[in-house]
Amino acid sequence: MSSVAESATAAALPRVPIPANGVDYRGKIVLAPMVRSGELPSRLLALKYGADLVWGPETIDRAIIGCERHVNPRNGCIEFSRMPSNGGRPDIVSKESVIYRLDPVREKGRLVFQMGTANPELAVQAAKVVAADVSGIDVNSGCPKPFSTSGGMGAALLRTPDKLVSILEALVHEVGEPFKIGISVKIRILETPEVTEALVSRLVRTGITGLTVHCRTTPMRPRERAIRHQLRMIADVCHKAGVACVMNGDVTSRDQGLALMEEFGVDGAMIATAAETNSSCFRAEADGGLAPWRDVVHEYLRFCIESENRLGNTKYLLNMLIPGKNQDFKEAKLSRTYTDACRRLKFNDLVPLAIQLDEILDLDRKWELGPPEGHPRSKAVQNAMENNESAKAAGGECTRSKATSPVIHNGGPIRTSSIPAPAKTETDQPALASIPAPMAQNTEVTA
Ligand SMILES: Cc1cc2nc3c(=O)[nH]c(=O)nc-3n(C[C@H](O)[C@H](O)[C@H](O)COP(=O)(O)O)c2cc1C
Repeated sequence: MSSVAESATAAALPRVPIPANGVDYRGKIVLAPMVRSGELPSRLLALKYGADLVWGPETIDRAIIGCERHVNPRNGCIEFSRMPSNGGRPDIVSKESVIYRLDPVREKGRLVFQMGTANPELAVQAAKVVAADVSGIDVNSGCPKPFSTSGGMGAALLRTPDKLVSILEALVHEVGEPFKIGISVKIRILETPEVTEALVSRLVRTGITGLTVHCRTTPMRPRERAIRHQLRMIADVCHKAGVACVMNGDVTSRDQGLALMEEFGVDGAMIATAAETNSSCFRAEADGGLAPWRDVVHEYLRFCIESENRLGNTKYLLNMLIPGKNQDFKEAKLSRTYTDACRRLKFNDLVPLAIQLDEILDLDRKWELGPPEGHPRSKAVQNAMENNESAKAAGGECTRSKATSPVIHNGGPIRTSSIPAPAKTETDQPALASIPAPMAQNTEVTA
């Protein structure tokens, strides 16, 4: 078709209107939702290097319902927090834990909140907590892990399309319309183009403004190459209904994302693991391309300090951003405070800020005093203290081996037409919540 004819066809296609406080996913290279790796500092890092939009980590509906909204007076961040349940032990004194944190200035117009849900009423209640502070609400319909699917959430929703449709419709009418933001969904491909098409055809009629497709089937492992042969069909179904289609799976850079968008006729591209490894993948070659890891880590640590990120979470992503064999990596892992981390990494310019944050977070004292009497602080307890409830609910407490991106690490040929046999997910990957962190070294989280 000539480009004139193409643009005439494009002009004739409908478009679900983008609400006043929402955002159009068209033409965007975006940061994927990632439990643990998608907290505020990583999102700011991605935005700094050129991500057009950022998805927050999946947050389970029940985790955000009941949260109180506070503005942190020191940095202006909005924090949704609640008292931890302490496993029903009223004798334990605890601090409010921050379930979700966002930057209303730097993320303005660019943040999509992703939710794990299996119930329209809970989804609406949860979305209303954050709706005034975000540009979109996305429903995770791709997480294959048992903690998600056993509750009917994540990839289980792909098998219960009536429920998924009712969740999306409820969100569109009860949250998207009053708050004037967009509702979207993130799915995986199904076994055949026909079943995927049947599902997508229903989803695009719910009033959503965007659909992201992770080009792997539910049983596929993150290391297996993405399958792209259904993509053009999915994009066509979306376009006929006026919905933006974002592709995901083995996109490694802005330039590659733009080329893939052109090749498959999709509207946007989403990057996960490549951004975890080096967030400057969002920077075009023409603007400098990938930055050296020390520059990226310096910026990351600065954002962590500015946003008062939990040290345990900070160290988790440092683990991903610093090349594994590097001595600095071993040093950073040993840090017990932000000051310690900055000194070990030789980022002396950050030390004054780090000292202040250690005081605010009480990190120095925590380590000097040790665990309170009668509450031995095992490694597992320490981990639990450092992770927020949503990450735990979504399995984010497991640690992952580095170097999981198949693209960066040559994980095999690109598959174009065949669907692999189901992997032994249950036995190969035991329920993450039950694995003590040190034993879970090679377990991967993906959705
Ligand atoms: C650490 C990690 C956490 C993830 N958490 C989520 C999540 O919260 N919600 C979601 O929809 N997908 C999640 N995913 C899946 C990614 O969003 C993405 O779909 C997947 O990694 C494929 O993209 P990639 O090939 O660029 O890595 C996660 C992936 C990783 C690596």
